[in-house]
Order: sequence, then structure tokens, then C-alpha cells
Amino acid sequence: MYSEKVMDHFQNPRNVGVLEDANGIGEVGNMRCGDIMKLYIKVGDNEIIEDIKFQTFGCGAAIATSSMITEIVKGMSIAEAEKVSNRQVAEELDGLPPAKMHCSNLAADALRAAIANYRENKQR
Ligand code: FES
Repeated sequence: MYSEKVMDHFQNPRNVGVLEDANGIGEVGNMRCGDIMKLYIKVGDNEIIEDIKFQTFGCGAAIATSSMITEIVKGMSIAEAEKVSNRQVAEELDGLPPAKMHCSNLAADALRAAIANYRENKQR
């Protein structure tokens, strides 16, 4: 049912944990199932995502997509990163079962929330 890449990211998630010096934090919940994801980003002066970590209290597909999105956007500018869609993350994982596509929203939404939080912090 799941691709090898999904299983790999689920079993060995990358960039898990809390980023102590984060300057953007996004937390979102999935309305359908109640799962939660928290994403931390450290954005440099050049607007590049220098570091990223996540904590996901959710299903395997949510953990795999969270892990994958951290790998995709690390080193990207925030402008590029916010264009990354949940569909793109699912494609990088060689697909998700249709019933699990909604789980990938968690990662993309949390990333956008973290970027919005970074911009808010910057204006203060
Ligand atoms: Fe909740 Fe997948 S079932 S995120």
C-alpha cells in the first residue's frame, strides 16, 4: 500500500525534534483526524531556510510527508519554500494512497504557518 520511500521516511524520519533557535514556528491540526504537526524553521538574513525540524503527532503518512518536506525545503529561500505543495511532497515520496492524501496537507500547511510566523516575528 505504501511506497518504499514512504516506509523509509516513516521508519527513519529526518529532522525530528525541537529547533531551539527557530525564528519561525508553525503548528497545524488536521480537522479530519485530529493529528497535529509542529514545524520549526531557522531562516538566515538572506531569507534562506538554514535549519528545520518537526514534531508530528500523527499517522505514518503524516510523519513521512513531514520528514520529506524538511528535506525538500532545507536550503531553499522562504519564497520558494512556500510554493511547495502537498502534491509535490507526495510525488517525492512516490505517491500516497488516495485515502491518505489529506495527511500530506499537514506538512505543507505547517510550513506555510512557520513562514508566516517568521515574517510576523521579523516585523516586531
Ligand atoms: Fe491524520 Fe493522516 S490520519 S494525518
